[in-house]
Amino acid sequence: MEQAESTDGFMTPSELNWLYDHACGQSVEIGSYKGRSATAIGLKLKVAGGQLTCIDLWGWDWVYDEFQENMKRSKLKVHIMRMNSIDAAKSFKEQSLDFIFIDSSHEYEDTVAEIKAWLPRLKSGSLLCGHDYLHPDYPGVEQAANELCPGYENPVDSIWTYKKP
Ligand SMILES: C[S@@+](CC[C@H](N)C(=O)[O-])C[C@H]1O[C@@H](n2cnc3c(N)ncnc32)[C@H](O)[C@@H]1O
Repeated sequence: MEQAESTDGFMTPSELNWLYDHACGQSVEIGSYKGRSATAIGLKLKVAGGQLTCIDLWGWDWVYDEFQENMKRSKLKVHIMRMNSIDAAKSFKEQSLDFIFIDSSHEYEDTVAEIKAWLPRLKSGSLLCGHDYLHPDYPGVEQAANELCPGYENPVDSIWTYKKP
């Protein structure tokens, strides 16, 4: 986990540990930035088996370059989709994913659109989770989770998580 903690980004060490403990199988991360959370998820899948797909617009080439460099540094082979998360969802079959982590725009409309696009891709009994729950700048995350993910939990710091029925 030292590799994840030494990667620039926004997740706390406790959140990185939570991702490491819960990621499994076919996993998708929406919003990878420089790869801090992707490193935690990727390291887990490397030992437990599985595949991580990282989706991000990477609007700046230098951030994308740093992301790729960080994956190389941690010897992680991830599948990269440099595109809008809603378009990316169309590439995945329904009920095909084991773990989805959303850490992208955090605006209400975007979060609603992402949950609606991605939840059908998740297997029943698997976790959809996200970041920046209760962040003062992003009230839309809580609003979207309240509306679309009944019974979701806040297991650590700013992570919200919902087990698909
Ligand atoms: C908060 S950062 C992600 C932080 C990262 N998880 C970490 O551990 O440091 C948010 C990222 O979401 C990406 N993003 C925002 N809206 C997006 C969208 N609609 N589709 C894909 N990526 C998006 C941005 O490009 C940005 O890199």
